[in-house]
Amino acid sequence: QAISDSIHGDFVRCMSTQFRDYTRSFEIIFTSDSPLYSSILRSTLQNMRWLNSSTSTPLLIITPFHESEIHAALLCSKKLGLQIRVRSGGHDYEGLSYSCKTPFIIIDLTNLRAIEINVEEETAWVQSGATLGELYYAIGKKSSIHAFPAGLCPTVGVGGHFSGGGLGTLMRKYGLAADNVLDAYLVDVNGRILDRKAMGENLFWAIRGGGGASFGIILSWKIRLVRVPPTVTAFTISKTIEQGATKLVHRWQYIADKLPEDLFIRVIIQDVPGSGHRNNKTIQASFNSLFLGEIDRLIPFMNESFPVLGLLAEDCIQMSWVESTLYFAGFQQGQPLEALLDKTQLYKSSFKAKSDFVREPIPEEGLEGIWKMFLAEEMVFIIMDPFGGKMNTIPESAVPFPHRKENLYNIQYIVKWQVNDVKASHKHIYWIRMLYEYMSPYVSKAPRAAYLNYRDLDLGTNSQGSTSYAEASEWGKKYFKGNFKRLARVKSMTDPQNFFRNEQSIPPLPTPG
Ligand code: FDA
Repeated sequence: QAISDSIHGDFVRCMSTQFRDYTRSFEIIFTSDSPLYSSILRSTLQNMRWLNSSTSTPLLIITPFHESEIHAALLCSKKLGLQIRVRSGGHDYEGLSYSCKTPFIIIDLTNLRAIEINVEEETAWVQSGATLGELYYAIGKKSSIHAFPAGLCPTVGVGGHFSGGGLGTLMRKYGLAADNVLDAYLVDVNGRILDRKAMGENLFWAIRGGGGASFGIILSWKIRLVRVPPTVTAFTISKTIEQGATKLVHRWQYIADKLPEDLFIRVIIQDVPGSGHRNNKTIQASFNSLFLGEIDRLIPFMNESFPVLGLLAEDCIQMSWVESTLYFAGFQQGQPLEALLDKTQLYKSSFKAKSDFVREPIPEEGLEGIWKMFLAEEMVFIIMDPFGGKMNTIPESAVPFPHRKENLYNIQYIVKWQVNDVKASHKHIYWIRMLYEYMSPYVSKAPRAAYLNYRDLDLGTNSQGSTSYAEASEWGKKYFKGNFKRLARVKSMTDPQNFFRNEQSIPPLPTPG
C-alpha cells in the first residue's frame, strides 16, 4: 500500500509537470485504494482465468480522455521505471493487456472510442478504445451498403484486434481488418504522435498485424469501408455425429476455401447433450454461414458445391449486413441494433485457446479422434474459419499476418470452465495441450503456424528482463513466418531500448559486434 501511495504521488506530480490541468489527474488515475479501481480493472477483462493468477495487478490504472494525457503517462512511466500495458477491449487470451510480472501501469483506452464515418469517401476514423460492435453499429446507422471486415464478437476492442490481424465473416471477400487499414495515429516511445506519413511505411506495416503493444500506443485508425449488398443471407445448420457430422465436416474441408468469395461457411464443433456416448453427450458440427446476396442466388450455389448439407430456403434468413453482425454474435433474431453497443461480456469465462492452420483435409479417422477427445471434456469448441478468395491474393509480406494462400482454413481450439481454481485450470489446460499434440500430424508444419490474436503463451515467451531475438524466433516465426525478422528490424529502429515489451513482444534485432 505504501509503495502504491508513493508511486501514485510521484506519478501525479510527474503528470502535473507534463500537462496544465492538474486536477484532471484525479479523474483519470486510479490506485488500488480508489473505490473504482477494482471495477475498472475487471471491466473489460475477458478471460477470468487471469483474475486469480500469480501475476501482479497494476500499481495504477490510467483512463485518458485526451492524447496529451497518454503522452504524459508514457513519459512519467519511463521516468519512474514502470512498464506499461495498453488495454483497448481487454480480450487478450493471455491477459497481456492487464497483467504483468513486474511493476506496471495500465493505460486503458476505454474513454477513447469516437467513430467518424465518411460514407462519400468510404472510410472511417475509429479510436482504439471503441469495440467492434460500436464500429458496426456506427456503419449500419450511416449506410446499408457498407461494412467492415473484422471479427465476430462485438465486445472485442479495435486496438488489439486491428493490430493483431482481425478475421471474420467478410475475410474471403475483403481480407482481414488489418488489410483494410489506411492510416493510423500512434504515440511512439518518445511520446510523439505520428500519423502514417510521420511514422513511415515500416512502422505502419508493423502495426497492421504485428501486435501494437511492441511498437507504441495506437490512438486511432483510418479504415476502408467495403461494399455489401443491402440484403445478405445467413444460415446455421447443425448435425450431430449420429446425423452424419463427420462426413459433412470432412467434405466441407474440400470445398469451403473454393466457394465463391461471397459465401463464407465456417464450422463450429462442440459437445452437446445427447445419448449413446460417455457422459450422455455427443458432438455437434454447426455450419454457420454468411452469403453476400439473397436466398435465390445462394441455393443454386449450395446445390452445386455442397449438396450433402441439404440447405433449403427455409433454413435461411435474409437481413442487412449490420443485422448479420448480431446474428453471428449469437443474439436472437429481432434484437435491436443497440445490442451491439452492449458491453456486457457475453462470453466471459475462464478459458484457454490455441490455434492452427490446416493445409490438407483431415481424414475422417483424424476427425473421429478429435470427437473422442471432446467426449472426455466439457465446454470444448473448435472453430474452423475458411480461407481462400481474397486471402489467396494477398502476398504473405503485405502485412505481418503471413497465413495466406496455402491454407484451407484456420482452426481454433477453446476449452472453458466455470470453477476458476488452480486445480481446474491445470486439468483443462492439460487437456487442450493433449488435443494440440494430437492435431500435430494434420496441421501446418515447420513452422507450426499460429494466429497472434489467438494468443498462446505455450508457444514460448520472452525471458523476463532480457528479450533475445533467437529465443523469440521460436514463437515469432509461428505467428509471423518470414515477417518476424522485418518486425524485429522495425522494433530496432523505433524502440531500440525495448521499452514497449511483454511476454510475447517483438524484440529488437541484436546489434552487430
Ligand atoms: P486487449 O485490450 O486485451 O489487447 C490485446 C493486445 O493488444 C495486448 O497486447 C494489448 O496491450 C495490445 N493493445 C491493445 N490496444 C492497443 C493499442 N491501442 N495500442 C497498442 N497496443 C494495444 N479475433 C478474430 O480475429 N476474430 C474473431 O472473431 C475474434 N473473436 C473473439 C471473441 C472473443 C470472445 C475473444 C475473447 C477474442 C476474439 N478474438 C477474435 C481475438 C481478438 O481479436 C484478440 O484477443 C484481440 O487482440 C483483442 O483486442 P482487444 O483490444 O479487445 O484486447
